[in-house]
Amino acid sequence: MINNQTGDKVLFESHENIAILIINNPPVNALSKHVRLELASHLKRAESDQNIDAVIICGAGKNLCGGADIREFNTPDREVEPMSRDLINLIEDFQKLVIAEIRGPTFGGGLELALGCHYRVAEADSFVGLPEVLRGVIPGAGGTQRLPRLIGLSPALDIITSGKSLSAENALKLGVIDEILDEDLRADTISFVQKLIGEGVGPRRIKDMEVGGSLDENTVIINNFSDKIKKTLRGVKAPLLCLESVSNTLSLSFEEGLKTEAEISKKAMASEESRALVHAFFSERQVTKIPDIPSDIKVRPIRKAAVIGAGTMGGGIAMSFANAGLPVTLIEMSPENLEKGMNRITQNYSATAKRGRLSSEEMKNRLNNINPSINYSDMKDADIVIEAVFEEMEVKRSVFTQIDLLAKENAVLATNTSTLDVDEIAGVTNRPEDVLGTHFFSPANVMTLLEVVRGKMTSKDVIASVMAMAKTINKVGVVVGVCDGFVGNRMLAPYFRQGDFLIEEGAMPQDVDRVIEEFGFRMGPFRVSDLAGLDISWAIEKRRAETRPEDERYSPLLDRICELGRYGQKTGAGWYRYEGGRNAIPDPLVEDLINSRSREMVLNRRTIQDDEIFKRCLYSMINEGAKILEEGLAIRSSDIDVIWLHGYGFPRHRGGPMFYADLIGLREVCDVLQQYHKEWGDKWEPASLLRELANSGSSFADWDNKQMKR
Ligand code: NAI
Repeated sequence: MINNQTGDKVLFESHENIAILIINNPPVNALSKHVRLELASHLKRAESDQNIDAVIICGAGKNLCGGADIREFNTPDREVEPMSRDLINLIEDFQKLVIAEIRGPTFGGGLELALGCHYRVAEADSFVGLPEVLRGVIPGAGGTQRLPRLIGLSPALDIITSGKSLSAENALKLGVIDEILDEDLRADTISFVQKLIGEGVGPRRIKDMEVGGSLDENTVIINNFSDKIKKTLRGVKAPLLCLESVSNTLSLSFEEGLKTEAEISKKAMASEESRALVHAFFSERQVTKIPDIPSDIKVRPIRKAAVIGAGTMGGGIAMSFANAGLPVTLIEMSPENLEKGMNRITQNYSATAKRGRLSSEEMKNRLNNINPSINYSDMKDADIVIEAVFEEMEVKRSVFTQIDLLAKENAVLATNTSTLDVDEIAGVTNRPEDVLGTHFFSPANVMTLLEVVRGKMTSKDVIASVMAMAKTINKVGVVVGVCDGFVGNRMLAPYFRQGDFLIEEGAMPQDVDRVIEEFGFRMGPFRVSDLAGLDISWAIEKRRAETRPEDERYSPLLDRICELGRYGQKTGAGWYRYEGGRNAIPDPLVEDLINSRSREMVLNRRTIQDDEIFKRCLYSMINEGAKILEEGLAIRSSDIDVIWLHGYGFPRHRGGPMFYADLIGLREVCDVLQQYHKEWGDKWEPASLLRELANSGSSFADWDNKQMKR
């Protein structure tokens, strides 16, 4: 019985002796409840129709099927029968030929559906893959059991444990698909099927195939993958679950393997890792929704940019435009500095080309997109002018006076300042509504985060235009308000501060880094500082010192390290010592410095447990996040998570600091903060928003939902 309540999600057409089932579930033809029900029902109809010899399963619109419906995750709809795996079994066991016609991106459950079919044909520019692992789950509709049987253990493991996508060409080479059809896909698929029927070819079922290779060979493959996963993915569990399920193809029957796959899949779906990864996915989508800016607001097209200052940031920002194919004028104050900046850009591209990741042709194109200049008037036809000069208000004021004079009417005027007041900068111009902050992260050509800083006067269309531009240049734009450090760096400060205090009290940099790295960050706070350059943090601290209240706790350890000329990796020493590489080696000299600081403070150094290190670093960051929310400087707690995922290497499988706080429970976070506040005073008082949410048994996610309903 077809459920017509929501309209036909699968269309039934016939062409002579072939039934064509067209999945019609925009936007991506996901395998939602109604699609599964209607596919099963149409198959029955095709089975009982004597005139039908074969079935083609295909998709309306741009693809065959985008996989499981992510909106059904953790809802009862996902369990409505037939579940995807039963439907796919039904297809595989079908007595008449079933052919999948693959077009567009066909991922996850979409590919699993195709693997249940007896043959697969694909359009030349289609893509296939099993990306479940990237959401913390495993292919749970037969993918781990069918793919290795079809293409062999090693390539199947590579695809399943990485979640990568394959072009049709590569899929054909590996045997995932049987043929690429180029011309008129539907007509060609029909001819392909007619040919099979003509040759008397019957169903070819993957479940009846054996995984190739000897037991010894396959054991080596499994062990190698296991080692690689454990080494590279700190604490992420889904790839290991994929490996476990795929390994079952060697020891279990197909039916038993499927059953076990379902059990592992269920376990993975209920995991915190999967919840965190799904949260990350939805948060990234949500970020473009700005409550007071209509989605259809007319944006200012940004097709040409000018960047002022060809230093570390200006160069990287110019590259981001050039990489996206947009022309950009890079303006410096002297020919020498311009040359230095351009040389750095060229070296950067050459290094990428040397690693084989950029063709010389493409490198030339990208360099051609950058127009170097020492003439300010060359900004005159730019749709956006981005200032990235020295971090000094006087310099910024003088540059913005020039920009105001020279930039064309309606141009977006942006500053890349990391600490200065965007409103003050805007106030220098006669068009503060056109001014905003674009806070790129270093290296700007690599890092995906862009904090879009909304000033008091910034107009809505300017914000919307820059959010759209962010997408064009492959960045994730997140709207934030004006405050010291904006969102990311403001939260980073207490996190780093606790690191400094912990080493004064008893830990060493390597202890703090280890705890944070075990949580999943690639680097702890001390290793990160060494990589970024301690001189940068030192300069910021010196500026902060001017406004720091006298009674505020402050650790001078950073100053002392920097006074020794130790600026981190680039000088071969910082918090650690480096012997010609990136390997951070604990340094007795630093340990002496730390011990003597503890003596100076008359502190009895104590053993600090990992749990305390973790809570002081993470909870101080979360508390600052809550203050940012209550001050209205971020739209949603999930936006803060996106900032941390894209700008600071927060482990994606942990979802972000605010999601993680929800997971722990805000009551627990608040209680610990209160206890620290009682013990140390300082800045430990829980934010009032955090207290309110904790007292009402609520979460940051609940708070987000309320904000969006307003
Ligand atoms: P930098 O010192 O590497 O580069 C600044 C460049 O601006 C120099 O090449 C200088 O010659 C040029 N310049 C100075 N005055 C100029 C003028 N009047 N006209 C044209 N060019 C001029 O500095 P960096 O690190 O690139 O920082 C630039 C801005 O980006 C600063 O506001 C900084 O706070 C911000 N920022 C820096 C980050 C970092 O990690 N370095 C991260 C995010 C923001």
